[in-house]
Amino acid sequence: MTAVDDARALLAASPEGVWSAPGRANLIGEHTDYNEGFVFPFAIAQRTAAAVALRDDDVIRVRSTFAPEAVEVSLAELDARIAAGGLDWAGYPLGVAWALLREAPDATARGVDIALASEVPVGAGLSSSAAIEGAVASALNDVWNAGLDKVALARVGRIAENDAVGAPTGIMDQMASMLGVADAATFLDCRTLATRAVPLGFADAGLSILVTDTLVEHAHSTGGYRERREACERGAAAFGVPSLRDLSVDDLARAEQILDEVTFRRVRHVITENQRVLDTVAALDADGPSAIGELLVASHASMRDDFEISVPELDLAVETTLAAGALGARMTGGGFGGAAIALIPTGLVPAATGAVRAAFAASGFRAPNIFTVTPSEGARRDA
Ligand code: GLA
Repeated sequence: MTAVDDARALLAASPEGVWSAPGRANLIGEHTDYNEGFVFPFAIAQRTAAAVALRDDDVIRVRSTFAPEAVEVSLAELDARIAAGGLDWAGYPLGVAWALLREAPDATARGVDIALASEVPVGAGLSSSAAIEGAVASALNDVWNAGLDKVALARVGRIAENDAVGAPTGIMDQMASMLGVADAATFLDCRTLATRAVPLGFADAGLSILVTDTLVEHAHSTGGYRERREACERGAAAFGVPSLRDLSVDDLARAEQILDEVTFRRVRHVITENQRVLDTVAALDADGPSAIGELLVASHASMRDDFEISVPELDLAVETTLAAGALGARMTGGGFGGAAIALIPTGLVPAATGAVRAAFAASGFRAPNIFTVTPSEGARRDA
C-alpha cells in the first residue's frame, strides 16, 4: 500500500482527487535559506498523500492515519482557530488552507474532507511537514481553483509553517517538495526563488545516499533553531546589510573584528556554507558526484564546530559512514537531532549500515533507522 492508497481508504467519501508531495533530504546548504542564501536539496521517494472530497457545507474536516481524531473547522472560523493555535498536527493542513486563502483571495473556497497518509518518517529531519503542506496545497489549489504555480504553493506552505504552526523556518523544504525532479537536486537561490534542477547521476556513478535517522527528536518552533536565526540577524545588522547573503568569504576578516566570538562563528558557517553550495553545484557540473564528498564533510564540520547544531549521534553517524567508505557525509536539516546522510558506493551500503548499528550500540545510543533515499519527483496529482 502506498500513501495514495492509504489516504483514499481513509476518506469516507469518494474523492475528487488524490494529490501527493514528498519529503526531502538536503544535500548541502544548511541554515542558509532564511539568510536568503543558496540551498541544494532533493525530494525523496517517500510521500504524503491527501485525498480530498468536496462537501456541501463550509466545513474543512481533516483526518490522518497518524492521529485518531478528525479535526473540523468551518471556513468562517478558520482565522480565529489559526490565531488561537493548539491545533497540533492539524495546524499543518488547516494552516495551508488559511495561507492559501490569504495568497489567493479569489479562490472558490468551500467545505472539504481531507484524508492524509504519509510514508515520510516524522522527526527524522526529512521534512514530513513540507510533505503535508505540499500535498494539501496542491489539492486545495485545484479544488478551490486558486490558480497558483508551484513556487507560490511553496510560499503557501512556508506561510503555514511560519504563521500558523509558529516555526520560524525558511522556504527550502517546501521548494524541494514542490519542485523535485527525479535523479536531480534543486539548486535554489532563496533570495530570488530562482531554481535549477541539477542532475545528480548517483545511480550511474554507483553511488547511494544512506540516511541514518538518529531518532533524536528536534522541534524547530522552539529553542536552538530560533536562536541561530537571531544570531544571523545580529550578524547582518552589524554589517548594515539586509541578510548574510550580502556577505562573502572576503568579509570574514572584518566579521571577526566587529562581531562577538559566538556570533562570528555563526556568521562564518552561513557565509562558508553558501560558498560550499556554489562549489558543490560547480563540481557536479564539471566532474560528477564523486567530486562533492569533501564539501559535504566540510559542511558537517562547520555545523558541528561553528554553528553548533549537531549532536553526538549525528557526529557518530558521519564519522562511522566515512570510515566505512563514504565519499562524504553530513547531518541534514535543521539539526539538534534528526538525520545524517552519507554519499557512499552502493556496494558498501550493507557494511556501512552494520558499522553504524554497531557504533551506536557501543556508545549506548538508541538503535537508529538506516535506509537509502532516492532523488525523486516533487508534488503531483496522483488521481
Ligand atoms: C529546517 C527548516 C529549513 C532550513 C533547515 C536548515 O529544515 O525547515 O527551512 O532552515 O532547517 O537548513
